[in-house]
Amino acid sequence: MFGRVKSLDAIMATAEKKSLHRSLGPIQLTLLGVGAVIGTGIFVLTAAAAQKAGPGMMWSFVIAGFVCAVAALCYSELASMVPVSGSAYTYSYAVVGELLAWMVGWALILEYAVAASAVCVGWSGYFMGLMKSWFGLVLPTALSAGPAWSFAGGLPHADFSAGIINVPAIVIAGLITALLVKGTTESATVNAALVAIKITALTMFVVLTWPAMHASHFTPFTPNGWFGHDGMGVVGAASSIFFAYVGFDAVSTAAEETKNPQRNVPIGLIGSLAICTIFYLAVAAGAVGAIGAQPTAVGVSPDSAAFANQCAALTAQGAQPLVCSKEALAFVLRAINHSAAGDLIGLAANLALPSVILMMIFGQTRIFFVMARDGLLPEKLATVHPTWKTPYIVTIVTGIFVAFAAALLPVGQLADISNSGTLFAFLMVAVAVMILRWRDPGRKRPFRTPLIWVTGPIAAAGCVFLYANLPISSILVLPVWGGIGLVFYFAYGYRKSHVGRGLTEVHELDADLPPGPVPPIS
Ligand code: ALA
Repeated sequence: MFGRVKSLDAIMATAEKKSLHRSLGPIQLTLLGVGAVIGTGIFVLTAAAAQKAGPGMMWSFVIAGFVCAVAALCYSELASMVPVSGSAYTYSYAVVGELLAWMVGWALILEYAVAASAVCVGWSGYFMGLMKSWFGLVLPTALSAGPAWSFAGGLPHADFSAGIINVPAIVIAGLITALLVKGTTESATVNAALVAIKITALTMFVVLTWPAMHASHFTPFTPNGWFGHDGMGVVGAASSIFFAYVGFDAVSTAAEETKNPQRNVPIGLIGSLAICTIFYLAVAAGAVGAIGAQPTAVGVSPDSAAFANQCAALTAQGAQPLVCSKEALAFVLRAINHSAAGDLIGLAANLALPSVILMMIFGQTRIFFVMARDGLLPEKLATVHPTWKTPYIVTIVTGIFVAFAAALLPVGQLADISNSGTLFAFLMVAVAVMILRWRDPGRKRPFRTPLIWVTGPIAAAGCVFLYANLPISSILVLPVWGGIGLVFYFAYGYRKSHVGRGLTEVHELDADLPPGPVPPIS
């Protein structure tokens, strides 16, 4: 299984034939990254981060951004060498063999599909906020939030007093899936417009909240310390807020369409991460500075039933704090008497978050598609629709999975679960880059990670560090999910694998993919 390796030469030979036009410059790349990255993390998870870390969440953004930056530099080396679909899954197949590649692909389901669910739930919070503000429309909690989950004695326990099913999240997941089945593409123009909307909204937030800042709101700076219990504290918040940076791989995967990738890919990556970090810090400072982090009770996890109950009690008294809000940024603006601006930021989130969902579901279908084509998943999944020319079966399966998770889990837990998968995939990529440098130092690398023997180990250690500081339930999801993946592999993929059966066809050309939607890169 470890010996079942795809030939890097064969993959690259076919990929080279593709010769995509190298058109992207540093500014387009940076915009692409910013477009893919800004989403639920800053718009929604700021509330949970405030509960976990208090004003110290500003450090959390810096820590998470740093780990992302070093991981991104490693990611780019492989992305530029193996510019093919399937991202981390394909890189691993060529470097560390089929079994680990399968595990990475399996973990990427957490990264992409569960992240899509998290963004659906984030969108739902902002949608309900806008409906309430504009039309006075309030959906009962039972229908606008999933239950709160706890893990008493190792078994999951649902508390339905926090909610039963998140209907708006199901609706948005269904709509985006329908668009993808029909083959909607998001054009570069739409992406640029959405980036502008997000940047304008965050800038407006900073401009309105900064003058309202109070030094007193920054003390105590770290109410739960640096390492709190079960994912609390500054580092725990960093592990969660890592989600706010996920999506930058869009820049790495655009490496093959980049002019002078050695120079422009790191500019695009570090540039977009730097822009996001600066915005995130400014927004976090504005949010806590203007109204205070207002943690409900020190040490209570924002994902717990106890937290949901405290928030419900406070809301009943008409005193909802920031940490309880499902639309954090709109909430802060309304709290400092900028209701119209609160609605505007809500509108911006409503418009911009669906494009993050679209990219995530699209990324997931593309990975499933490649895995099915390799024989590791049933090939029927890769069937292309006769009229729409999209991989409709795999898209619908993904959509159902995304809607199901979004219906039943809160946004914070979904983001944490997604992070556990993403961190595993990034760890494997950092390891793969180092293995390849050592095993095959002479190979042509359009982009070389600077100081790989420093950057690589730091990236790997950073991923492990953030993973280890997630809440215990999310830490456990990865091995349990991995175990299910192993059973699936040995029951199915091991026998059906094309590489294992000696079928040597290489399909890595994008031309092999259905001519469905493409990510907004040109
Ligand atoms: N970084 C993306 C977001 O925050 C996934 O929504």
